[in-house]
Amino acid sequence: MELLDFDIIILGSGLAGMRAALQAAKASNGKLRIALVSKLHAMRSHSVSAEGGISGVLYPGENGDSADLHAYDTIKGSDYLADQNAVKILVDHAPEEIKLFNNLGVPWNRNRNGKIELRAFGGMSVNRTAFAADKTGFFMLNTLYDNLLSFKNIEIFHEHVATKLLLKGGSFAGVTAIDMATGNMKAFISRAGIIATGGFGRAYGFTTTGYSSTGDGIALAYKEGLPLKDMEFVQFHPTALVPSGILITEAARGEGGYLLNSKGERFMKNYAPSVMELAPRDIVSRAEITEINEGRGIKDKKYGDLAYVHLDLRHLGEEKIDEKLPMIKEISMKMLGLNPAKDLIPVRPAVHFTMGGIDTDINGKAANGLWAAGECGCVSVHGSNRLGSNSLSQCVIWGRITGNAAAQLAIKSKAPAAPKTEIEREEKRIDALFERKSGENPYEIRSKLWQTMDNNVNVYRDSKSMRSAKSILAGLAEKYKKIAIDDKSRVYNTNFRDALEIENTLLLAQVVTEAALARKESRGAHARKEFPKRDDKNWLKHTIARKAGNQIRLAYSPVVITKWKPKERKY
Ligand code: FUM
Repeated sequence: MELLDFDIIILGSGLAGMRAALQAAKASNGKLRIALVSKLHAMRSHSVSAEGGISGVLYPGENGDSADLHAYDTIKGSDYLADQNAVKILVDHAPEEIKLFNNLGVPWNRNRNGKIELRAFGGMSVNRTAFAADKTGFFMLNTLYDNLLSFKNIEIFHEHVATKLLLKGGSFAGVTAIDMATGNMKAFISRAGIIATGGFGRAYGFTTTGYSSTGDGIALAYKEGLPLKDMEFVQFHPTALVPSGILITEAARGEGGYLLNSKGERFMKNYAPSVMELAPRDIVSRAEITEINEGRGIKDKKYGDLAYVHLDLRHLGEEKIDEKLPMIKEISMKMLGLNPAKDLIPVRPAVHFTMGGIDTDINGKAANGLWAAGECGCVSVHGSNRLGSNSLSQCVIWGRITGNAAAQLAIKSKAPAAPKTEIEREEKRIDALFERKSGENPYEIRSKLWQTMDNNVNVYRDSKSMRSAKSILAGLAEKYKKIAIDDKSRVYNTNFRDALEIENTLLLAQVVTEAALARKESRGAHARKEFPKRDDKNWLKHTIARKAGNQIRLAYSPVVITKWKPKERKY
């Protein structure tokens, strides 16, 4: 295996990973050698598909907005599970990050006075989401990537799939990866590492997330014994297009869109009368499923088997839709032949974001020399339910924080010796997988995984369905041990990459199910049929999951509450 020494290795090239690279490059004055390792071409990272915007109090005082109000909205939205010291970092630093991206060149939408325009998002008391039409992630990632290219000390390894995290005595030592273009394995060795590989929406079949959202970094960390936090909290976005699951941005409702049931009623009046369609996502998703379950959903064979509700944008008019939601129009027209200025759009909840991830401290630190930033890290800023547009802020803020911290460590220490035995063992493991002649089909395992998670661990969960999921997933994990890869070539073997990703999503699905079964209350995105109420007395705590052999060991840790005492959550 080829050995490559760097000062910092960043795994994942979405907004968090690239922002970390930019910060580390700047903090080291161009001196540190930084490897940005991505399983995709960097510009295909999932951040590119973020649509609606990034939150931040750009104009304190206007509309009564303040950092404190942003914090309160976030904490209430989190159903009081967010760590309030982490939320403070988010709200205090979001505005300067939006301004930084403005300086880097993001073409934000602006109002008539030339100021960056802010739009409404669910659970936010006032308009505080900056946006670039409905392609915010695309513009932010493009801008960041363009800027990174001018740093000679950042080397980007596109299409390198990580297979193992190397830890030495509990400290980060590097990562092994397969270069997709050649099939060769490489070991990246360094003292400081940042995992920024995103979430694991693809543990489910019906999701707004790309096929690449397989939680690789989270699974690799878990396999090495690092703890995961709050994995039971999986966010369902209320407006995924039916039947594909493509995201229809929440900004469609922020700009004034309605949700209608089969009777043409704006049903949100029965669930969140004061904010209607702009309630947080957990509430809107539950409302939609309730409408569907109670017979007020809509079904049409031409959109498949799933029942749905309607998103109504007709009253916004063509001009506004073209200006603020051009991609939503394009998606609706291309996928379904529907023009949102004239037609109702079929939508229903789909998995969109995973609140849980690698357990980190407030600075994103996961272990000695290792940090996690963005969706893969659980710094506990979203608690049990994230507010829309808070994720891009999280990505760039903790990208910056972890980039700085990794640079500080790397400046004063050299790369460790490569852990040779572990590297050789990993190479043998990968070779053996390639060489196995026959066995289980990984794609069949994936289909069953998706079906199980979609049916059994969805918006509403109960013990029976989750116990059944647990047993099915355990069977799939046994089968996975015997998989065989049909394609034996080493060059661009996507069959092999898929198999690694399937292992990761399956592992994480097991942790989600275990943690969800154990939490006997309903909080945020975790809605238990038998325990419909939040139970602060017993469950105001984070779930910590660790690998213990083949078992998942659960423990709990306290929530940091500084200012906002938990109270009933009403909208
Ligand atoms: O609906 C959206 O545009 C998604 C935004 C987010 O998840 O933050």
